[in-house]
Amino acid sequence: MTHPRTRVMPRRILVTSALPYANGPTHLGHMTEAVQTDIWVRFMKLRGHDCVYVCADDTHGTPIMLKAASEGVTPEQLITQVGAERRRDFADFGIGFDNYHSTHSEENRRLTVRMYEALVAAGHITRRIVRQAYDEKAGMFLPDRYVKGTCPRCATPGQYGDSCEHCGATYTPSDLIDPMSVVSGTTPIQRESEHIFFKLGDFEPMLRKWTRSGSLQPAAANKLDEWFDAGLRDWDVSRDAPYFGIEIPDAPGKYFYVWLDAPVGYMASFENLCARSGLVFYDYWGPDSQAELYHFIGKDILYFHSLFWPATLEGAGFRKPTIVHAHGFLTINGEKMSKSRGTFVSARRYLDLLPPEYFRYFLAAKLGPGLDDIDMNLDEFATRINAELVGKLVNIASRCAGFIHRSDGGRLAPALPDPGLYREFVEAADRIAASYEAREYAAAVREIMALTDRANLYIDQHKPWLAAKDPARAAEVQATCTQGLNLFRVLMTCLKPVMPAMAGRAEDFLGKPVTFWSDIAEPLLDSAIKDYQPLATRVDPALVRKLVETPMTTTQEISVEEFARIDLRIARIESAALVEGADRLLQLTVDLGGEQRTVFAGIRSSYEPGQLVGRHVVVVANLKPRKLRFGVSQAMVLVAGTEGGDALFLLGPDPGATAGMKVS
Ligand code: 2FM
Ligand code: ZN
Repeated sequence: MTHPRTRVMPRRILVTSALPYANGPTHLGHMTEAVQTDIWVRFMKLRGHDCVYVCADDTHGTPIMLKAASEGVTPEQLITQVGAERRRDFADFGIGFDNYHSTHSEENRRLTVRMYEALVAAGHITRRIVRQAYDEKAGMFLPDRYVKGTCPRCATPGQYGDSCEHCGATYTPSDLIDPMSVVSGTTPIQRESEHIFFKLGDFEPMLRKWTRSGSLQPAAANKLDEWFDAGLRDWDVSRDAPYFGIEIPDAPGKYFYVWLDAPVGYMASFENLCARSGLVFYDYWGPDSQAELYHFIGKDILYFHSLFWPATLEGAGFRKPTIVHAHGFLTINGEKMSKSRGTFVSARRYLDLLPPEYFRYFLAAKLGPGLDDIDMNLDEFATRINAELVGKLVNIASRCAGFIHRSDGGRLAPALPDPGLYREFVEAADRIAASYEAREYAAAVREIMALTDRANLYIDQHKPWLAAKDPARAAEVQATCTQGLNLFRVLMTCLKPVMPAMAGRAEDFLGKPVTFWSDIAEPLLDSAIKDYQPLATRVDPALVRKLVETPMTTTQEISVEEFARIDLRIARIESAALVEGADRLLQLTVDLGGEQRTVFAGIRSSYEPGQLVGRHVVVVANLKPRKLRFGVSQAMVLVAGTEGGDALFLLGPDPGATAGMKVS
């Protein structure tokens, strides 16, 4: 059966974007991928297809385990908190997930174990002994990135255990000169352990065929050829305890490497959605599924998605992806996003300054179909918003609306004066649709903007502002503006996948919702429109530049009364000690003039316990006690430092101040 609105068979499509690690704030890099995916999903839904978009937090692995420990919380607490922030950030950027789940879920555990057991049964799993760096103090094996030392080739100190950032040499941690564990600062030893491997090479013929079946972009397929030439090696999918992850059923004390269970998170999120919708898991994941499966990813994780993932799916009897679409990295003013360069922009920072749909529009205007990086030049950003969105697009609506209201009480004319021009726009919309489908958003936006110029030209030629001066020409004014507003409606519909909220406001103004792309086949005639409210306003380039400036103060002001509620006191540090398992914390006992309190302070990066005893510091004395894994923190010690920086400076009074004094 064809869909009444698509004139073609509706397609069944499952779409994902890569699962963000649950160990830090959402940034514009995450948002780039989510927006790229969301535009495609919204486009497909607008075309009348059955399109489902799922994602989840990627919650397992050593970095998350260690980050939780250093913050004095359990990994579960960490991922719960990050997950809540993440969902808010995505929602505020208009990302319309049908489900957002977690890899730390029962669905994911079950599916991962099932996949593993199927791979074992089919003979694709093998075991052998591995020698690896081991931290005796922390009691754990160390991933390569957790060992640092001097490069064996060029002698540059401070290099990671897998490669040298200075000379590019690659090696193993045992090759480093003076290796040191990043976790405890001690010298690691080499220890043996049995590991479990997935035999990727079993799948080479299938992968070679799949790679060239149109599932990958040409540049990605070429990259795969390089990997085939280098040889497909067995993949180590196990890690020894302690590890935050899914325990391997036939290997107690061993866990699945996070990259085995992470993509299974796509299935887990979908299964979780099935449980509360009419969707059927096997319609999408069964070996004969007719549904399409699209993964949007960053180019850095191509190896996982184009080799391991299709191979494990095939080996365990599931279907393979239809398309794996990789994108490049977002750069800011030509620079990689990085905290130290000041080019790191969190999603929240952006939202504090600018409307989310401006980012979505800018990104769409820049996103091609390939793997090239996408540069967010901040001045170009402001120029595009002001010249294209405000100056051209929204301008059509604001110009026409005023005249229609003056001349005819807010009604559109019964006929278009130039139906041929309207037809041209509707036909162009078909080409724009083809660009969206091919993920060539920049081409789509270019064409939309060319049509916007054409619509403005039409209005310029018919000069409603002159005709409006002559009451006898009222019908002509109404006709011109009806034409203009209908062209605007086509353009806004074409941009609806990019700016759904603005398109919604435009539909409200025009008095009729657009549910499907094909709704624009017929113009809006002889119907009422509402008063025009500005759909977009200019941005100040100085405000856009603030994205990369460190905020000097918190943005929200507080009153003197609010400040007075904070009980600041001088305290004397009586004792200080390291905290087992939390390498950022020190446990302090402070005296507040007769009353002793325990404080866990995140100052280990800058202070040794021995330096602190006897010092006077400033504390927040009436902070609600916080329960940490190691105990209860009963106050907060104040320090100065740059945002996210490791160098911290304790605040203290001039000599003479004593414990218990009030600070105001
Ligand atoms: O690179 C990353 O950020 C990973 N967390 C992506 C995982 S995608 C999928 F495989 F789960
Ligand atoms: Zn080197």
